[in-house]
Amino acid sequence: MRKKLVVGNWKMHGNRASNAQLLGGLKDAGPWTADVAVCAPFLYIADTALALAGTAIGYGAQDCSAHEQGAYTGEVSPLMLADVGCRYVIVGHSERRAYHAESDQLVADKAKVALAHGVTPIVCVGETRAEREAGQTEAVVKRQLAAVIHTLGHCCGEMVVAYEPVWAIGTGLTATPAEAQAVHAVLRAQLRAATERADGMRILYGGSVKPDNATELFGQADIDGGLIGGAALKAVDFAAICRAA
Ligand code: G3P
Repeated sequence: MRKKLVVGNWKMHGNRASNAQLLGGLKDAGPWTADVAVCAPFLYIADTALALAGTAIGYGAQDCSAHEQGAYTGEVSPLMLADVGCRYVIVGHSERRAYHAESDQLVADKAKVALAHGVTPIVCVGETRAEREAGQTEAVVKRQLAAVIHTLGHCCGEMVVAYEPVWAIGTGLTATPAEAQAVHAVLRAQLRAATERADGMRILYGGSVKPDNATELFGQADIDGGLIGGAALKAVDFAAICRAA
């Protein structure tokens, strides 16, 4: 009943030439039955839009401001993202939470402004290795999601959620399908308590998803696709993950 979604998060990788090659490869490999999108660095979003024109592949950004406009040097507004056709924006990625000290509330505010301008926020939650070892996984992801649910109110059914255990990002360590499913089920239950739309919402898994583990991960009851880092930088790998979905 939920259409799968696979989103590539390019992070701070690529250049005009390599992006053109990657997008060319994806265009040749698609279409897929899943929804597919790529989140490029801000500077390359316009090129990405041009390259993907006329295809079903969506595109988006990796972050946005919590403000609509104003004196916020260096920031990019969700209004601007909407203006250039972004369908999605990733908010609350663990790298932003860790390196830019983004709080749960800031992440929630970003999601709210994005949604208000028609850009779907992909809200990332996830525990660190230390938190997992201390048995705090559930408490951490619930706290992170609660801030967004509270801030979005009845609109919370419109977001996409991504569970990304921090210890699995870029490490080659993946949560087992059962470990990931257990957390997704917790998140789904929390969403059900907040919105009637919970069963139609997509909860993505991210963290070392590769062509060889994607099928099993995406086969779990509450895993509705993936947020892909490293493997999204190679057209053949990303295409294979999109096929798996
Ligand atoms: O947002 C995607 C991400 O953090 C996962 O990265 O390289 O482990 O697939 P990776």
